[in-house]
Amino acid sequence: MPAFSATSPGKIILFGEHAVVYGEPAIATPVFSSQANAIVTAHIQGKPGEIWIEAPNISLSAPIDQLEINHPLRAAIQVVIGDKELNQVPPCNIQITSEIPPSSGLGSSAAISISLIRAFSAFLGTRLSDEEVSDFAYEIEKIHHGTPSGIDNTVISHQKPVYYRKGKPFEFLEIGEEFSVLIVYSGKPGNTKEAVEGVRERWQEDPDRYNQIFSRIGEITNAAKVIIETGNPDHLGPLMNENHELLQELGVSSPGLDELVLAALEAGALGAKLSGGGLGGHIIALAKSDAANISAELVKQGAISTLITPVTNRNITR
Ligand code: PMV
Repeated sequence: MPAFSATSPGKIILFGEHAVVYGEPAIATPVFSSQANAIVTAHIQGKPGEIWIEAPNISLSAPIDQLEINHPLRAAIQVVIGDKELNQVPPCNIQITSEIPPSSGLGSSAAISISLIRAFSAFLGTRLSDEEVSDFAYEIEKIHHGTPSGIDNTVISHQKPVYYRKGKPFEFLEIGEEFSVLIVYSGKPGNTKEAVEGVRERWQEDPDRYNQIFSRIGEITNAAKVIIETGNPDHLGPLMNENHELLQELGVSSPGLDELVLAALEAGALGAKLSGGGLGGHIIALAKSDAANISAELVKQGAISTLITPVTNRNITR
């Protein structure tokens, strides 16, 4: 029985989170060492519309029509079948697995949606472009995050480092000199929706101050783009540190994230910042050849888990 499988990487934001919601640029890159997968298998004896979905990570095993209409997994199926009713779809089983920790700034929701959209559309015999996959996934991101900028679905569907500005054509980054980023989990899930809403409330109270912060983050992101494209990635360190301070000013860091950033710098990182929505989740640190040493030092100091990801133009999906 043919199975249709799709795998998607996670992602991290290198620069520009939160400011990107207000029209500033951001830079994000895929994380191939942590991936989500969806497998769709035809269920020969089933009746049309019988779609069974299994997602052991969230202890889910149920027919899709028993999920709420706006459950992200059901919504991802619906977005692929468009105006058709579920009962016009051939019966199938869907298995979803993910190594990407949820609510941690690694794009787990977009990676799951994109794997599901790709595998399910292949099962139906529909070929979607990366752009269409991204647009469909954006609809599901809205269920998760309210008013997402669209960066997660863009970087994960194209699986390349991108320079992204809301509403503008995104650019793939040509990496001048490959470098490694250490990703360190704080042990506490983040909350992107709450963080984005909090920033919006504070921005409404004091737009001038917040606009200034967003615009400085935009300048940092543009400076980082030049460095990434021309080489000398060591020069990204100070930009990461300043970006982290600005995120602190936006109110989206946390004592745990700040401690990890300091610990990474003390262990020899050239720069460090929180990544993603914040209020928990991950920090990233720029390490030269000593990424493994810094990682070991941080684990000694209580970091829960670390990943090292190359920022590269190579597609290294497993
Ligand atoms: O927490 P993540 O990885 O989904 O990143 C959120 C990034 C924000 O800029 C805070 C929100 C967005 O939609 O871009």
